[in-house]
Amino acid sequence: MKQHINKIITGNCVEVMEKFEENSIDLTLTSPPYDNLRTYKGFVFPFKQIAQQLFRITKEGGIVVWVVNDATIKGSETGTSFKQALYFKEIGFNLHDTMIFQKTNPIPQIYRKRYNGIFEYMFVFSKGKVKTHNPIKIDCLHAGLQLNGTTYKNYSKGEQKRSKMAKPVKKQKIKGNIWEYVVGKKAEDQEAKGHPAPFPCALARDHITSWTNEGDIVLDPMCGSGTTCVSAFRLNRNYIGIDMSEEYCELAQKRIKKYEMQPTLFQEDTPTYGDK
Ligand SMILES: C[S@@+](CC[C@H](N)C(=O)[O-])C[C@H]1O[C@@H](n2cnc3c(N)ncnc32)[C@H](O)[C@@H]1O
Repeated sequence: MKQHINKIITGNCVEVMEKFEENSIDLTLTSPPYDNLRTYKGFVFPFKQIAQQLFRITKEGGIVVWVVNDATIKGSETGTSFKQALYFKEIGFNLHDTMIFQKTNPIPQIYRKRYNGIFEYMFVFSKGKVKTHNPIKIDCLHAGLQLNGTTYKNYSKGEQKRSKMAKPVKKQKIKGNIWEYVVGKKAEDQEAKGHPAPFPCALARDHITSWTNEGDIVLDPMCGSGTTCVSAFRLNRNYIGIDMSEEYCELAQKRIKKYEMQPTLFQEDTPTYGDK
């Protein structure tokens, strides 16, 4: 695997992944082309072969995060996201969690008797039992609050009072599975200009810290502007990025180089969780 580590590789990801050793990747974080919404620089998208390669190369306990949405064609959402999720299950992955990427600034839509689409799916697949989870925590609204006895209804016995003091509310709790981000506004995300559909660096950071530890290998087989790879590099993980387009690979390399050349950016730009 050594020759592929910390590289951005131009090519069809199926052909590139075929050269990887099996059970070698800790986390794949990627976003495929959504139906035929965009053509990028021309691409082929052999979904089933990609999914099969991902299963082969993912380590036991490793994770694949698949960020995806559907096109609406002739009045109906295609359902491609669900079909893909079920195929991942069919070939052996667990559907570990169906998470939501909610956008604080969604693209305005023409009104067609439906509510504005403001989210995408983040399907989290695991190969067997998840080996790494570093949960992101958020502050509890009522931290420290201690309730006296509470009155509750027990339907067989009528109203009862619990006299024991309840434990004080914890300072922090594990974040829920709907994650909200602003798209394309932050300076670090503006660096992806030139690619039509990058996801936010904060989204990549949150998944990378959740599912990997320092030194692990993070793959994005359709890396576009390189958001996953840049974020992995900044978090001291190893990365591998693949994209069909030479132009997007150059953009990804340029983004990574910026952080290689100015290591102080690590300190200045260190992500603060909870501040999206
Ligand atoms: C939704 S974009 C990914 C954007 C990326 N997450 C980012 O933050 O910039 C999908 C990418 O998949 C690439 N692509 C499509 N089919 C591919 C294939 N078979 N092999 C490699 N890359 C492919 C396209 O060139 C495009 O850049």
